[in-house]
Amino acid sequence: MRIYLDNAATTPLCDEVLEAMLPFLKNNFGNPSSSHQEGRTAKAGIEKARKIIAMSLGAVTSEIIFTSGGTEANNTAIKCAIRDLGVKRIISSPIEHSCVFNTVNRMGSQDIEVIYVELDKYGRANIEHLEELLSGSDKKTLVSLMHANNEVGTLNPIDKICGLCNKYQAYFHTDTVQSVGHIAIDVSKLNVHFLSGSGHKLHGPKGVGFLYINKNNSIGAMIDGGGQERKMRSGTENVASIVGLGRALEQAIEFLDERRSQIEKVRSYFISKLKENFTDIHFNGDYMGDYLFTVLNVSFKTETAVNMLLFKLDLKGISASGGSACNSGAVKDSRVLSKLKVPEGYHSVRFSFSHHNTTEEVDFTISKLQEII
Ligand SMILES: Cc1ncc(COP(=O)(O)O)c(C=O)c1O
Repeated sequence: MRIYLDNAATTPLCDEVLEAMLPFLKNNFGNPSSSHQEGRTAKAGIEKARKIIAMSLGAVTSEIIFTSGGTEANNTAIKCAIRDLGVKRIISSPIEHSCVFNTVNRMGSQDIEVIYVELDKYGRANIEHLEELLSGSDKKTLVSLMHANNEVGTLNPIDKICGLCNKYQAYFHTDTVQSVGHIAIDVSKLNVHFLSGSGHKLHGPKGVGFLYINKNNSIGAMIDGGGQERKMRSGTENVASIVGLGRALEQAIEFLDERRSQIEKVRSYFISKLKENFTDIHFNGDYMGDYLFTVLNVSFKTETAVNMLLFKLDLKGISASGGSACNSGAVKDSRVLSKLKVPEGYHSVRFSFSHHNTTEEVDFTISKLQEII
């Protein structure tokens, strides 16, 4: 038996998504730039997906471009804002996903001023400090702050951040890779300039994502070539995956409440069982307040290092993580947790859920954790 509790790293593809993709991997193989029937069919698949994504976000279709994932979407937003919108200063946080954190730092080494907003003990941006920073400079500023943190699940108040960016005429980019499809987002009510999403976090395929670019932002291409994606992102489109992403988001929105209540049920059962069975534990992030319900980050007081904890869990059939998935497969000390004051001598595991998880799986996991810790 395997129990998969690493859904913030990636999620299994859902059947409906695979079904939607299959025709585009086989019969509907056309190049969407071709004008003949095969091409038009492929193009129609892409445009349908674009419409679904735009509608589910309250955007218009011309505001959505498809990318190779969340990483490319975030890179595009930040780098194009600097290149094309006159941005000279970035306000971000030290607990962004690496694809934002490293991009922001690279910009910092290229004459762009980089400032980090203060965080509270849960990892939430301090809004008063953000206002102080925004009001304290005339430089054109991009604020890049994620919606839901991928390691601890704390949510940033993106509506308030939008309000402040509007007030001080700053651009706002938010990484919603972990939250889109789990929490309803309506860009027509926010003054957000860029927003990113990724297929594989919501039971869609890997290697595909999207960037919402507000229609008033005039940015140029990140990748030049044949002019696909309205000249914004060249390269023959990953048609089947784009179709899958559209279907995945459609499903996520249709079953949002149902999935949420199943996941909340499992998550709160897990919390109560952890509290019942382990006295020396600490929960990271705003786990009972304003949180992303798919994530639970727990620190156990134990001599066993986190690598070993995860290894032993894996041997017993449970997949969890030490934070974000690292490309080498190794678990490094978490940059995020290092900012959140995890007590000394504790080791942290991220459990992250999907609607497939059950309370029976929680019971099994608790019993295995008891054997290990
Ligand atoms: C918050 C966040 N942003 C961006 C990404 C990168 O997305 P992708 O894997 O689609 O490149 C991830 C993936 O772990 C993430 O959790």
